[in-house]
Amino acid sequence: MPTILITGANRGIGLELTRSFAKDGWRVHACCRDPERAKELRAVDGTVVVHPLDVTDGAAVAGLARDLKGEALDILFNNAGVYGPRTGFGKTDYDAWQPVFSINVFAPLRMAESFAAHVARSDRKLILNMSSVMGSIAEGGSGSYIYRSSKAALNMISKTLSVDLAGQGIAVVAFHPGWVQTDMGGEQATVEVRDSVRGLRQVIDGLTAKDNGGFFAYDGHKLPW
Ligand SMILES: NC(=O)c1ccc[n+]([C@@H]2O[C@H](COP(=O)([O-])OP(=O)(O)OC[C@H]3O[C@@H](n4cnc5c(N)ncnc54)[C@H](OP(=O)(O)O)[C@@H]3O)[C@@H](O)[C@H]2O)c1
Repeated sequence: MPTILITGANRGIGLELTRSFAKDGWRVHACCRDPERAKELRAVDGTVVVHPLDVTDGAAVAGLARDLKGEALDILFNNAGVYGPRTGFGKTDYDAWQPVFSINVFAPLRMAESFAAHVARSDRKLILNMSSVMGSIAEGGSGSYIYRSSKAALNMISKTLSVDLAGQGIAVVAFHPGWVQTDMGGEQATVEVRDSVRGLRQVIDGLTAKDNGGFFAYDGHKLPW
């Protein structure tokens, strides 16, 4: 049975990813901060194992890696993320920057370092990082310095991991899920969660070793760093 670990699986894109993979017969290790409150996640049909995990908690990440020791993870999906304060130039909340980096940047690297061995013993051997087009320096844009810089840093981590883990046969890919109707994306967002995840699934299914180190939108088009 192919196996995936997803962070931030209790709502938004992570919840829909969990539903989608579980429906297709995957074993899903669905991680969330508070399983007690994750009613929708606990109601997902299929082989779904819910784990408590705050991705900023290094001891908890190490503990989960130990609990899953010996297991093969076809995909590690670093999905959990936060936006932080939605402020423009002149209004930056410097105290809010570090917590956003802890979740969006430090945690995906820690997860990769903790679970690379599990991924390396699988068939698919994929580490997927949920980035954003807002982290693309080439695409540019205004405001949201904290979020943009965190996703740009995550992009650099994805690219560097793709070099460091290639020898183990692991491919590392960054994704932009679209502007998605979730708590983060808001009601004005243009893409429904299901459509984003359907697109992501198609791109993921088609990934090959030559895509290692790539940055893709949910509709399959390649994004510039
Ligand atoms: N929605 C968009 O338009 C959009 C666009 C581009 C990129 N993205 C990216 O897509 C990913 C998912 O976003 P979304 O739209 O689904 O957002 P969302 O609905 O706000 O969900 C965010 C998820 O991340 C989890 N999370 C936050 N901090 C965490 C922590 N410290 N430990 C563990 N989990 C944590 C949340 O858990 P709690 O419920 O416990 O808070 C929640 O499950 C994010 O990385 C986001 O940056 C989204």
